[in-house]
Amino acid sequence: MRQAPELAQSLRGDHQRVIAIDGPAAAGKSTVARLLADRLGALLFDTGALYRAVALAALQSDVSPDDEQSLSRIASDAQISVRPPSLQDGRLYDVWLNGEDVTWSVRDPEVGAIVSRVAEHPAVRSALLPLQRTIASSSPVVMVGRDIGTFVVPDAGLKIYLDATPEERARRRFREATARGSKQSMEAVLRETLQRDATDRGRDTAPLRPAADAIQIDTSGIPVDQIVAEIEALARAERDAAGHPLWPS
Ligand code: CDP
Repeated sequence: MRQAPELAQSLRGDHQRVIAIDGPAAAGKSTVARLLADRLGALLFDTGALYRAVALAALQSDVSPDDEQSLSRIASDAQISVRPPSLQDGRLYDVWLNGEDVTWSVRDPEVGAIVSRVAEHPAVRSALLPLQRTIASSSPVVMVGRDIGTFVVPDAGLKIYLDATPEERARRRFREATARGSKQSMEAVLRETLQRDATDRGRDTAPLRPAADAIQIDTSGIPVDQIVAEIEALARAERDAAGHPLWPS
C-alpha cells in the first residue's frame, strides 16, 4: 500500500470509546451512526463530509480532481467543520466550509461525481488525517467512513462494516436525492454509486475494505432500528480493563 510519509502521523490515547463504521456508499452508515451516537451520548463524525467539502471547494475554485498538489493545499487550508445539526431540515449533522453552511451542497451530484477521485490522492488523505485523529482522541465518538477501522483508528473499540446490495443502496440514495428535488434517474444513481465504490476499493492508499476484526453486517431489507439495536448491544457488551461498561446507560 502506497503511503505519503505524513500518513505515519501517530495516533495517541485510548480509543475504546471510538466506534468505527465503514462501508460502501449508501450502506446506511450515517443514518445508523446518528441514531447510535444519540443513544450512546457520543459525537457523530462523518469523515465523508471532509472529502466532500474538499471536492466542493475544488469545484468552486475550478481545481481539477487530478491536481493533487492544489487539492492538498485546499484540504490543508480550508476551514472545514462537521458539527451537530443546527437546523431540523432532515440533516444528520452540519458541514461548514470557510464560514458557509454547505451541508446540502456537499450532497450535490457534481460533488458525488468527483469526490472519490479527490479522495484517491495520498496528499489529500494525509492533510485530512490530523483532524480525524484529533476527534478520535478527544471524544466518545461514532466515526463513519471508508478507512476508519483499517487506517484512521485501527485500535477503535468496536469496528463495524455495513454493506447492502448495490440495488438497495442505489434505491436508498435515489429516494434521498429525489426528496431533495434531484432529477437524477435511478440508473444514473446506480452508475455513480458503483463507480464510486470501484474507485474507493481500488485506490492504493487506505482503500475501502473491512478491517480483519470488523463485524460485518448486511443491511439489505433490515429496518434501521434493528441495525442500531444490534450495534448498540455490541457496544454495551464491551468492558474496560477494570470490567466497567464503556458506555453510560
Ligand atoms: O454518504 P456516502 O456513502 O455516499 O459517501 P460519503 O461517506 O459521504 O463519502 C464520499 C466519498 O469520500 C467516498 O466515496 C470516498 O471516496 C471518500 N471517503 C474516503 O475516501 N474515506 C473516508 N474515510 C470517507 C469518505
